[in-house]
Amino acid sequence: MTHEPAPHQYRSTMLVTGGAGFIGSNFVRMVAQRQPETKIIVLDALTYAGNAQNLAGLDHNRVELVKGRVEDAGVVDELCAEADTVVHFAAESHNDNSLRDPSPFVRTNLVGTFTLLEAVRAHGNRFHHISTDEVFGDLALNDPARFTEDTPYRPSSPYSATKAGSDHLVRAWVRSFGINATISNCSNNYGPYQHVEKFIPRQITNLLTGRLAKLYGTGEQVRDWIHVDDHNDAVLTILERGRRGETYNIGASGERSNKEIIELICELMGGTYEHVADRPGHDQRYAMDASKLREELSWTPQYGGDFRTGLEQTIRWYEENEAWWHSAKDAVEHGYAARGQ
Ligand SMILES: NC(=O)c1ccc[n+]([C@@H]2O[C@H](COP(=O)([O-])OP(=O)(O)OC[C@H]3O[C@@H](n4cnc5c(N)ncnc54)[C@H](O)[C@@H]3O)[C@@H](O)[C@H]2O)c1
Repeated sequence: MTHEPAPHQYRSTMLVTGGAGFIGSNFVRMVAQRQPETKIIVLDALTYAGNAQNLAGLDHNRVELVKGRVEDAGVVDELCAEADTVVHFAAESHNDNSLRDPSPFVRTNLVGTFTLLEAVRAHGNRFHHISTDEVFGDLALNDPARFTEDTPYRPSSPYSATKAGSDHLVRAWVRSFGINATISNCSNNYGPYQHVEKFIPRQITNLLTGRLAKLYGTGEQVRDWIHVDDHNDAVLTILERGRRGETYNIGASGERSNKEIIELICELMGGTYEHVADRPGHDQRYAMDASKLREELSWTPQYGGDFRTGLEQTIRWYEENEAWWHSAKDAVEHGYAARGQ
């Protein structure tokens, strides 16, 4: 007679949508390390931005990858029935793509969030919605203001408009149906596993492939940078201690112009850059006020202002993981070149 080992009983099950993407996969690694009694189910469509390899090395008895779409009510309902907590990262996330074809943005970001909310309403899950500072639009370069949780929404691009709409859906489901949800709006992330289409990895891999780094326009636009681990640590803090129905801004006071970033990358890697055509409707300045998260939930970023160290580590990761990004690089640059960027 053979004895099968009893299946492990986990204390909780967390559904992570978009968990094979940049921020989601770093989040899954953090939860896997910090919460050994949590089983993690990743629901990810594995679009061009998602990669099963981002979850390589994790225990597949504990971290299960389900390939599927957040707009698919059948799969979403089944997985929400199994999970107690749902953390929603899945999105079409690249502004430039949303200018060329907004339709996947509407489907994934709006219809997908709606589909999840209906399943969460039916199954009573704890829900956390991941969003962006881009819902607030932009600030003038000479405006010292920062976005707070009360700043009116004023999205500029199809990407930020669909994220803004998804935030409104979550608030309406809290108010109308009493779901147990929180929202976070975070500033620009950097770190390992970010697709080479995005600003920082694009410049690093440009230099690694013998190209020049490329600066949109004059490069005076300001972004507020945060290390992906600081973002995810804040999300876990909100899951643990955040108040139902509340929104928290996440930021680490990392404001820098695109020109400063590219010059620092060139300094650290020994390269040079050129100016290319600007993005149409390019937002000028983003700056997050994260005092509510810091004061109410006692959160502090680990990297915080130490952008240089975070960037050095990120550069090293791209140097050491060429196999991860190499196949996407030429196609991405071909697309940018066609637009004079
Ligand atoms: N990158 C940033 O700087 C930043 C800042 C603030 C907020 N956010 C938000 O964080 C979240 C994650 O962003 P990211 O940078 O990791 O994006 P990403 O593009 O790297 O990852 C998105 C993931 O979602 C998956 N996905 C896309 N459409 C899907 C669908 N219909 N169903 C299921 N999965 C689908 C993709 O396969 C991918 O794995 C997004 O909601 C984004 O709006 C990003």
